[in-house]
Amino acid sequence: MKSSYLKISILALCSIFSVNSQAESKTHDKRPTAIELPSEIKSLLRQEMQQLQQGMQALLPAIVSGDNNKITAIAQKMQHSYIMKQKLTPKQMHVLHKNLPPAFIQLDQKFHGFAGMLAHVAEENKSELISFYFYKLTETCVECHRKYAQKRFPKLMPSIKHSGHH
Ligand code: HEC
Repeated sequence: MKSSYLKISILALCSIFSVNSQAESKTHDKRPTAIELPSEIKSLLRQEMQQLQQGMQALLPAIVSGDNNKITAIAQKMQHSYIMKQKLTPKQMHVLHKNLPPAFIQLDQKFHGFAGMLAHVAEENKSELISFYFYKLTETCVECHRKYAQKRFPKLMPSIKHSGHH
């Protein structure tokens, strides 16, 4: 495993809201968490997320054209994501990290792990595994959003069955 320092950018930014959400998540179960962030943090988070999304969008043509060098480059960039790492000090990250709910840490690690694996299998020209890790990445985006970004992505809410139109 590489230094985790590079892997905590999302983690760092999200840790800020986790401080807020912690009390909630402790008292309760798996209930949906909607998160409020200070606006400057939210803006950084969104920038970072936009970059991740651009990474995902750039991956598809690279994958379907077999451009494994490009896949590796993009995936590595995603693995070591960018903005928060530049804006938060390692010390801040550390403090925030300590306040994160374990489930969030897991998701963040999972995400970076999959990005790293994608970079790796592309380097090794393992095509089937490339698709697999692309899928795993997508799944992890969705999983984290479903748990921690419900306000932004309300359609990801676990569906509540409505009996009809009222
Ligand atoms: C560990 C948690 C986590 C992971 C993993 C994650 N996200 Fe997010 N993402 C968030 C949160 C939290 C928000 C909501 C921010 C807000 O409140 O606006 C968000 C918001 C976004 C947004 C909206 C940004 C905006 O401008 O409003 C996009 C786009 C996005 N994510 C893309 C992705 C993509 C693509 C992936 C996977 C490659 C991904 N995210 C993985 C936590 C995560």
